Amino acid sequence: MSSAPDPAPTPDDLRARSRERWERQAEIWERRRDWFQAAVAPVSHAMIETLNPQPGHVVLEAAAGLGDTGLLAAELVHPGGKVIISDGAEAMVEAARRHAAERGIVNVEVTPMELEWLDMSAASVDGILVRFGYMLVPDPETALRDARRVLRPGGRISLAVWDRVEDNPWLGLGTGILADRGLTERFSPENVEPGPFSLSSADQVTELLGSTGFVLPEVHRVEVAFRSPSAEEARRNFLEFSDRATTALKDAEPALRDEVHAEIEAAFAAHPDPDGPEGAIALPGAVLVAAADA
Ligand SMILES: C[S@@+](CC[C@H](N)C(=O)[O-])C[C@H]1O[C@@H](n2cnc3c(N)ncnc32)[C@H](O)[C@@H]1O
Repeated sequence: MSSAPDPAPTPDDLRARSRERWERQAEIWERRRDWFQAAVAPVSHAMIETLNPQPGHVVLEAAAGLGDTGLLAAELVHPGGKVIISDGAEAMVEAARRHAAERGIVNVEVTPMELEWLDMSAASVDGILVRFGYMLVPDPETALRDARRVLRPGGRISLAVWDRVEDNPWLGLGTGILADRGLTERFSPENVEPGPFSLSSADQVTELLGSTGFVLPEVHRVEVAFRSPSAEEARRNFLEFSDRATTALKDAEPALRDEVHAEIEAAFAAHPDPDGPEGAIALPGAVLVAAADA
C-alpha cells in the first residue's frame, strides 16, 4: 500500500519552522557577524542613503537580526530621534541588545516583534528598514501593508532582498553541489516556500510595493563580496552560516563529508580575492535595495 504524500505545509507551519530555525541560528550569526557584515555593509549604506533619516526621526528596523543597519540610522536621527530594532526570534533580540549596549548607543530600543504584524500604532514611525527579511515570510504582502500602516504620511521604507541565486554564488554555489548529490533541495523558482531567493526580481519587488499602497518605488542593485582568507575558511563560513547546508551534512558519513568539503573548496577556489593575500577567496553576491514612500 502506498502512503499518501505529506501535505503541503500551511503558512503557520512555515512560520513555526522559520522561528525555530532563527532561534537556533542566532548564535551562529553572532559568531560570524564580522564576516557577514563586512560583505553586506554596502547594502546597509545604500538602504540608509535612500531612507535619508533625519535628526528627530523615529526609525523601525524589523527582522533586524543583530541590528547592524538600525545602528547606523541611530547616529543619524540623533538628537531627538530614536531607532527601534526588532526581530521575531528572542535569541536574535538578546544578541542585538548586547551589541547595542557594547557600542554604547543610547537612542535605541530593542524589542521582539513579528514582521507580518508590527506591534506598533498607526502612523508612528518616519522610516522602516528591513534588510533580508521580506523574502522569508509566508505573506510579504500583509507584512508590507502593515509597514505602510505604521509609517507616518510622508514616511519611507527601504528594504533589501537577495537577487537571483545565480547572482549569489556565496550561497548558491555550495548549495548546488549539495543538491547535485541529493543532499538538499536546489533553490529554484518552482519552490514556493519562503527562502532567500523568493523575492529575487526587481519587477516583483516593485509590483509588491505598488500593490501594498507604496508610491514612487525605486530599486537599485548592490554587488557584494564574501571574503575569507582561504577556500577552507570560505567553506566553513558557508556550511555554518547556511542552515540548509548544515542540515544536509549533519548525518553524513565522514568519508562523504570530506569529499563534499573538498568539492566545495575546489569550487570556491575558482573565486580568488583580487584584493586579498595569496589563497584568499571573494565569493560574489548581489542584492536588490528597494525604497518607496508610504
Ligand atoms: C536573513 S536574517 C537577516 C538579519 C538582519 N536583517 C541582517 O540583514 O543582518 C533574517 C532575520 O529575520 C528574522 N525573521 C524571520 N522571520 C521573521 C518574522 N516573521 N518576523 C520577525 N522577524 C523575522 C530572523 O529571526 C532573522 O533575524
